[in-house]
Amino acid sequence: MRKKIIAGNWKMNMTPTEAVNLVNTLKPLVNNEEVDVVFCVPAIDIIPAMEAAKGTNIHIGAENMYFEESGAYTGEISPKMLEDAGVKYVVIGHSERREYFAETDETVNKKVLKALEHGITPIICCGESLTQREQGITIDWIRQQIKIAFLNVTADQAKTTVIAYEPIWAIGTGKTATTEQAEEVCAAIRACIGEIYDEATAEAIRIQYGGSVNAGNAAELFAQPDIDGGLVGGASLKPDFGKIVCYNQ
Ligand code: 13P
Repeated sequence: MRKKIIAGNWKMNMTPTEAVNLVNTLKPLVNNEEVDVVFCVPAIDIIPAMEAAKGTNIHIGAENMYFEESGAYTGEISPKMLEDAGVKYVVIGHSERREYFAETDETVNKKVLKALEHGITPIICCGESLTQREQGITIDWIRQQIKIAFLNVTADQAKTTVIAYEPIWAIGTGKTATTEQAEEVCAAIRACIGEIYDEATAEAIRIQYGGSVNAGNAAELFAQPDIDGGLVGGASLKPDFGKIVCYNQ
């Protein structure tokens, strides 16, 4: 049985002071032994959020990192820095990074390899646009994203990673994919991992759904056989996140 993983993606929200307050507010609400709970926060919030989360079940993750160890890359955060800070998860290739910061499947692959090298679990994002869905090329598109993201990743490494399927048209729009749509793509992603590697790797890898997840739809989404949790944007900044994490209680 795969353990569910429910992660908040705070995006560019919360000052360090606000971050500490939010962790303190959510702390008592996200206590669910059956779920890995991750808050992916802005880089400047990582240290204070970790301090605030000490002694709880909350893991603090990053929202991005660069694929070099150090050097002349003004403004970037390296995997070495995240590792030293004790960060165990990092979101890689979110559609907003692809859209606004020119990330590609190739840079995603480089980042995935680097994160793994540093013992950090990448949460690898994929997802189609509305046009792609309407043109019926969703599965082809996602398979391409996955195949490139996992280039040179070993089966043992792949087993430890997390994939987040986030249809772009469902992000921040209040328009959730139907349970059937989400399950169909998550199952296709698992099949693709099975083709690249083997059955055992496909069974081990955890696949999240993301895109307008809220307290009302979480339980049904997470009950699907190929959906192992969620990557939650807007609702992760509110006490409602507690209801999402405790979807089975
Ligand atoms: P929303 O939950 O706000 O739709 O955002 C989803 C997302 O992009 C999480 O990474």
